[in-house]
Amino acid sequence: MARLTTDNVQRARELIALYPVPRSALIPILHVAQEQDGWLTPDAIVHVAELLDLTAAEVLGTVSFYDMFFTHPVGRHLVSVCTNIACLLNGGYELLDHAEQKLGVKAGATTEDGEFTLEEVECLALCGAAPCLTVNWRFFGPVTPESFDKLVGYLRDGELADQVPPHGTLCRVRRSVGLPASSSSGAGRVAPRKDEAAAPRAAPPAGADKGGRGEKEAAGAGAVTAATGEGAQVERPPGADTAATVDDSRHQKGGGA
Ligand code: FES
Repeated sequence: MARLTTDNVQRARELIALYPVPRSALIPILHVAQEQDGWLTPDAIVHVAELLDLTAAEVLGTVSFYDMFFTHPVGRHLVSVCTNIACLLNGGYELLDHAEQKLGVKAGATTEDGEFTLEEVECLALCGAAPCLTVNWRFFGPVTPESFDKLVGYLRDGELADQVPPHGTLCRVRRSVGLPASSSSGAGRVAPRKDEAAAPRAAPPAGADKGGRGEKEAAGAGAVTAATGEGAQVERPPGADTAATVDDSRHQKGGGA
């Protein structure tokens, strides 16, 4: 069970320096620790406590309060499907059911190969692209069962590695220590394979400042948009029915337009 690496200790110290009181850096440092292993190991919690002169119990108290922190291993790709009202009305539960069948696990579980953890979540603040989901906090919507299957294939094959970093890397944390949101933070779109036409695209959260789980990550998702200099919005094709439809007409590899 790993403690923080030397590099991450350095990042933690840079974060601590941003605040008048070291303990104020707790949550950003927890994100750094979670980025390292995908979850917060017991040793990492102890290490974070040492860095901030807190007790492990105090750190665990914060960790257990927030649903974006994990105290158990999660898959390489954390797939979070929204079933809140806008997504519910546009097929969110059908999408979740399909995801469970496709991945062979129930929400809350991890596939045997450790590739995917599936979870059901409240509003991601991407209601305009319902039904939607995030993979490692990168937004995709609207997502159909068909485009979900393609998305899973892309993720398994590593074709979205430049847009969906492992373990839910958060742009916000990196930016807060003076590191720019790099292209690896996500280009805002999922490009199709050469021989395929349809795939869901990553998108910034429309109305991300309106609350819901996406509110927590609004800054991070905004960084994705900022990195491309674009304000991409998810559109629904004319005539789209209540079933989610993927607009793939403007996909561009690494484009984000
Ligand atoms: S209801 Fe699903 S993103 Fe808001």
